Amino acid sequence: MAKKVQFVETVLRDANQSLIATRLPYDKFEPMLETIDKAGYYAAECWGGATFDVCLRYLHEDPWERLRKIRAKMPNTKLQMLLRGQNVLGYSHYPDDFVKLFVTKAVENGMDVIRIFDALNDVKNMKVAMEATNKAGAIASGTISYTTSPVHTHKKYVEMVKELKEMGAKTICIKDMAGIMGPKEAYDLVSAIKDAVDLPIDLHTHSTTGLAFMTYLKAVEAGVDIIDTAISPFSGGTSQPATETMAYALRQLGYEVDLDDTCTKKIADYFKGVRDEYIKDGTLMPKSLTTDTQCLTYQVPGGMLSNLLSQLKQMNALDRFDEALLETPKVRADMGYPPLVTPTSQMVGVQAVRNVLDGERYKTVSKEIKAYCRGEYGTTPAPINPEIQKKILGDEKPMTGRYADTLEPVVEKTRKQLEGVARSDEDVLSYIAFPNLAEKFFQERKEKEENTATYSIVEA
Ligand code: CO
Repeated sequence: MAKKVQFVETVLRDANQSLIATRLPYDKFEPMLETIDKAGYYAAECWGGATFDVCLRYLHEDPWERLRKIRAKMPNTKLQMLLRGQNVLGYSHYPDDFVKLFVTKAVENGMDVIRIFDALNDVKNMKVAMEATNKAGAIASGTISYTTSPVHTHKKYVEMVKELKEMGAKTICIKDMAGIMGPKEAYDLVSAIKDAVDLPIDLHTHSTTGLAFMTYLKAVEAGVDIIDTAISPFSGGTSQPATETMAYALRQLGYEVDLDDTCTKKIADYFKGVRDEYIKDGTLMPKSLTTDTQCLTYQVPGGMLSNLLSQLKQMNALDRFDEALLETPKVRADMGYPPLVTPTSQMVGVQAVRNVLDGERYKTVSKEIKAYCRGEYGTTPAPINPEIQKKILGDEKPMTGRYADTLEPVVEKTRKQLEGVARSDEDVLSYIAFPNLAEKFFQERKEKEENTATYSIVEA
């Protein structure tokens, strides 16, 4: 019997985030939701990551309402979101009561699969979200943030996967956010995980370095069950490989693919028009669609390179770029080889620039790096360089437990604080996640309603 390979469509979330900074408003993709629903995907990734923040910040949309609307139009396909473990959708750790309520409400509003990761691969930062997901009846996808370093061995990843299974993961996702995983690593790692646990495995990568099609193919040969792809007009470059191309190649090789080609063609035709609009207005930059192999050479993700450039430019120090680039892997090694993903990528990049411009390493450090050295982000893959940790912390002792255990519950307190303003627990959650944005959004919503009310009186 032919082995089946299933697809997660990322156009609504990761492709949208990677190519056009998550700027797709709901109305732009609404006409395609019913077709996506009929196309035969394993799941549609449509929420989480930066979508929540951008909905409130730029699109004047209630992210919860967006989720409910998608759910209503897509009754047959699983909806999937990306969740940063104890960070939820933000950049620092939240108390457990917030994490639990957020997950519960996400599932209540229509979420089926919650992909849970931690920037340091510290499973104790994933536990509460995993348990809440299972309790709410959704699929907890335990996720590895993939990176390479002397301490990131396949053995370590397999141990992590076993722990995730123990915690209740129903599927495993290997998340290669920088697109640095090559076909050989994919084959070996998927094989190793398949040997160790009997859970479905999903591989997530990006086309940034041009490896992705080869990486997926070898992963499929090793038995991967699900791959993440983007409909062709929103594929390639910093996004995922194209859905239709992967389906074509896999069928040719004898794999079973459930996708309906009439539907994918319709979706592609529609999104071509959308893509062209964003190219025209400058939101989609041509360089996002090209292949960039620099991160294979420097082991620095593409997004970090452009951040380094813009930081140096602001400081009038573009001539120090090469030094900053060389310093980045050194800082990462000092910090115990964190995977470079939000928020660790920003922290390491900023520190590398400081070290170069100060002329003395770790002369100044950000409050985030200080908190990191205190252990507030979790256990690092390798120990932090002890001399540097001592230079940063002085006599202060780093913590070994879970930082969230030191945080006071926040939900009940915020419910009281927002009485008369928040209309639901969803509002309360939006406020805890992004207080300033949510407050502004509540105000705008009220004004909009009052205006509509006035108009209807006039009309009557
Ligand atoms: Co991604």
